[in-house]
Amino acid sequence: MKHLFGIAQLSREQIEYLVNLGASFVELSRRSVKKAPTLRGKTIINLFFENSTRTRTSFELAGKRLSADVINISASTSATKKGESLLDTGETLAAMQPHVLVIRHAIAGTCEFLADYLPDTSIVNAGDGAHEHPTQILTDLLTLKQTWDSPQGKVITIVGDIAHSRVARSHLLAAQKLGYSVRVVAPKTLLPLAIERFGCEVYHDFDAAIPGSDVLYMLRMQTERMTSSCCFPSIREYHEAYGLNRRRLDMAGKDCVVMHPGPMNRGVEITSDVADSARSHILDQVECGVAVRMAVLTALCGGGQTEPVRRSRKREQAEAAMKAQGKLL
Ligand code: CP
Repeated sequence: MKHLFGIAQLSREQIEYLVNLGASFVELSRRSVKKAPTLRGKTIINLFFENSTRTRTSFELAGKRLSADVINISASTSATKKGESLLDTGETLAAMQPHVLVIRHAIAGTCEFLADYLPDTSIVNAGDGAHEHPTQILTDLLTLKQTWDSPQGKVITIVGDIAHSRVARSHLLAAQKLGYSVRVVAPKTLLPLAIERFGCEVYHDFDAAIPGSDVLYMLRMQTERMTSSCCFPSIREYHEAYGLNRRRLDMAGKDCVVMHPGPMNRGVEITSDVADSARSHILDQVECGVAVRMAVLTALCGGGQTEPVRRSRKREQAEAAMKAQGKLL
């Protein structure tokens, strides 16, 4: 594996391989000395253009626990604030010869775009707009593996802002490969057009979707991606219709678990008594996130090199395409 752009590129076998490799790293993180030499001599750069607590920290911890050198760069402290383009920033960092560049960006497709110009660097998508968040889905699958052998045949009910959620999209892709079902629950204003093409069941009534669910997977509203404020009438009404509370949890089967990728907005999509209940796996997801990112970094650093691309022609083509779309990277 040279890059990790999304769940879309992975086969079922690759997903299972990464989850199983992640499982082998959980124990390392629970030891008093949390260190293995696996990535000694490797350099990882985390380049985050959007805020993050879980993903950025877990990639940093994952690299450090495997003895890699890890550098963190956030947009607010990078030279992009002085007008440098994304492409120039990427090429500048690649010239420092890192093995892996972990990128979070608000524009979908950023990682694939940069990969064309950085032939010697592995790129990991840590979340690109509303497109994909592959390591979150691998994290969730590792978390569920601690309860079930396989997600096959299970029903994951994803509730909330499906339209702006890269997590929901990546789960829909993973479900098709691994044989689990996804129900999506949202008002029409928070659903993408033609969501049914992913083979999921669509609900607007949360209560109706609960029976038969094995996971109630709650999402926050991604207000930073909303272009209008009329996706829902008010926070109070949204919470009434789509918030997970004790009453709704009691409607679910006794083995149904609660998940959330974070960050949570308590009192909006989930109440505190549910988030902190024994059925909540939210902090297990955080722990598994470190182990999964250790697996991803290990898999990438063990990969081969690709042939260099013709940089100048590729660059011209990409810049022309972005200009045509009115975007300046
Ligand atoms: N789940 C997730 O991506 O969380 P962060 O935004 O804190 O990284």
